[in-house]
Amino acid sequence: MAKLALVGYGKMGKMLDQLSGEFGLETVLRLDEFNNANGESMTPEKFAGVDVAIEFTSPHTVLANIEGLAKLGVPTVVGTTGWGAHRDHVKQVVEQAGIGFIHSPNFSVGVNVFARLVAEAARLLAEEPAYGAWAWELHHNQKKDAPSGTLIQLVDRMKDAGYKSHIDVSSNRAGAVPGTHEIGFDSAADTITLRHTARNREGFARGALKAAKWLVDTKRTGFMDFTDVLFNK
Ligand SMILES: NC(=O)c1ccc[n+]([C@@H]2O[C@H](COP(=O)([O-])OP(=O)(O)OC[C@H]3O[C@@H](n4cnc5c(N)ncnc54)[C@H](OP(=O)(O)O)[C@@H]3O)[C@@H](O)[C@H]2O)c1
Repeated sequence: MAKLALVGYGKMGKMLDQLSGEFGLETVLRLDEFNNANGESMTPEKFAGVDVAIEFTSPHTVLANIEGLAKLGVPTVVGTTGWGAHRDHVKQVVEQAGIGFIHSPNFSVGVNVFARLVAEAARLLAEEPAYGAWAWELHHNQKKDAPSGTLIQLVDRMKDAGYKSHIDVSSNRAGAVPGTHEIGFDSAADTITLRHTARNREGFARGALKAAKWLVDTKRTGFMDFTDVLFNK
């Protein structure tokens, strides 16, 4: 069994712990707000023998955690969202440290397939001015960032596919919804609605564990995202 460190022991961290054994990973270290509030547990002693870390914390703590893990030379999977503005800095930190690093705003396999379908629809409608587009997401009321990292990534994929018209973006926060994302195109004649609905958090946890095991097995280094694991093996 490869040795796993969980950085963040909230809803996702606990679920990762429950499922890690199924992926050939043994959790040997659990860091949370009580033992790592200021990064005090990011030490070579605590991380001795750790093969890979998975980080699910908050937008306020993720950068310090990534920097600490890079310094320790630990391959890392990051699920925390809300740090997109620091992407270039993180890429530099990861490349200087020479570690493997996989991030995704959404580790569900289904949503990554969904993103490909969205990009294809955007490409096909790029030259159709009769259609207007919207991008919408709904999450539980504890989610700290809005719009979600997944929705931002979906909109980026539409633009990368050549879609230049305005895309109206909106978010709702209510109840316990694990995550719903919808992209729509509307014209006077018809509507196309593409929607992904996460039923629970398990899909995110399984994807992050799959990415961690892939890092251990392939020993790949560099700044990657989950699509490298899923589609560019
Ligand atoms: N990529 C994906 O597939 C995916 C899926 C679900 C969620 N997410 C994202 O992952 C993040 C965590 O989600 P969650 O639902 O697990 O949130 P959560 O239940 O709030 O858990 C985050 C945990 O990290 C703790 N923490 C704070 N500072 C820390 C530190 N310095 N070191 C270690 N742990 C620390 C938090 O403590 P406090 O509560 O005291 O701050 C909390 O217990 C969010 O950004 C969310 O948007 C991503």
